[in-house]
Amino acid sequence: MKFFVDTADTDAIAALNDLGMVDGVTTNPSLIMKSGRDIKDVTKQICDMVAGPVSAETVARDADGMIAEGRVLAQIAGNIAIKVPLTWAGLKACKVLSGEGRMVNVTLCFSASQALLAAKAGATYISPFIGRLDDVNLDGMELIEDIRTIYDNYDFTTEILAASIRSVNHMKQAALIGADVATAPPHVIRSMADHVLTDRGLDAFLKDWETTGQTIL
Ligand code: G3P
Repeated sequence: MKFFVDTADTDAIAALNDLGMVDGVTTNPSLIMKSGRDIKDVTKQICDMVAGPVSAETVARDADGMIAEGRVLAQIAGNIAIKVPLTWAGLKACKVLSGEGRMVNVTLCFSASQALLAAKAGATYISPFIGRLDDVNLDGMELIEDIRTIYDNYDFTTEILAASIRSVNHMKQAALIGADVATAPPHVIRSMADHVLTDRGLDAFLKDWETTGQTIL
């Protein structure tokens, strides 16, 4: 499973990138707002840092607006994936932009039927929002499973990009189901390394080592 980082915080991206944990980046208007930076500046900086796809989201509600914005965003760098919402306007923009050979990430997906439409419109990525479904007592992981089944039934090449990931368990479940990509905030990716038994075991080893009086270097 590829790891995308869901943030416009360039320091956080750089830190994970140094460890080889960044296969791509996703942003959205809320994350750009949180960064406090100009969308083109911050997106360019991210694209220069990361070799993989960097999603930048359009903000128009109509297809023509999304297409025009998408073309502008695509000028930022060769690794831009244009993010459009899963509306009929977004699907139309997806069809046009993907037809131009551009990567398109169709976002705000909350049903398998929506995901089927996105694949037919030529989406490079479909972004089902797991956490937001869980927030309203629906099952985000069930949606990932359903989309996996449908895409595999018909050999769609659209990649499932599990989004709105909130926990380490979400990452594990997405990987078990076979999501192609999971995009998560930096703190979730960092937390994947944490285990109380690892900490406890290391403490015990080092305590014993101290009593030997030995050094390695
Ligand atoms: O990738 C989409 C993500 O940014 C939404 O996450 O936690 O705001 O639902 P969240």
